[in-house]
Amino acid sequence: MKFFVDTADVAEIADLAAAGLVDGVTTNPSLVHRAGRNMLEVVAEIAAAVAGPVSAEVVATDAEGMLREADVLRAIAPNVCIKVPLTAEGLKACRRLSGEGTKVNVTLCFSAVQALLAARAGASFVSPFVGRHDDVGFDGMALIRDIRRIYNNYGFGTEILVASVRHPVHVLDAALIGADVATVPPAVLRQLLRHPLTDRGLEAFLADWAKTGQTIG
Ligand code: E4P
Repeated sequence: MKFFVDTADVAEIADLAAAGLVDGVTTNPSLVHRAGRNMLEVVAEIAAAVAGPVSAEVVATDAEGMLREADVLRAIAPNVCIKVPLTAEGLKACRRLSGEGTKVNVTLCFSAVQALLAARAGASFVSPFVGRHDDVGFDGMALIRDIRRIYNNYGFGTEILVASVRHPVHVLDAALIGADVATVPPAVLRQLLRHPLTDRGLEAFLADWAKTGQTIG
């Protein structure tokens, strides 16, 4: 499973990328707002720092407007992936952009049939939001299981990009189900590394090593 980082914070992305934890990046208008930066500049910096796809979201709600914005965004760098909402207009834009060879991430997916429509429109990625689904009393991971099954049934190449990830168990479940990608906030990505027994074990090894009085090299 690939890891994308879900942030518009360039410093965080650079740090995580240096640890080999970043196969791509997803942004959205809220994350750009949180970064407090100009969107086009931020997307350009991220796309230069990361080789994989960098999702940049349109904000027009009609297909023609989305396509105009997509032209601006995809001109930034070849690895910019256009994010469109899962609406009829978004799917129209998706069909056009995908037909032109541009990668499209269809976002705000909350049902398996919506994901089926995104795949039929030629999306490179579909983003089901597991955390927000859980928040309203549904099982976000059941959605991922259903989408996986439907895509396998028909051989769709659209990648399932698990979004709205809130904790490491979301990542574990996504991997067990066979999702293609999880987009993970930086803090959760760091949490994946940690285990108290790793810390305790390392402390004990270092304490015993100090008692040997030896050095390596
Ligand atoms: C990413 O593509 C999504 O926009 C993001 O994961 C949404 O996460 P949130 O529900 O924590 O805002």
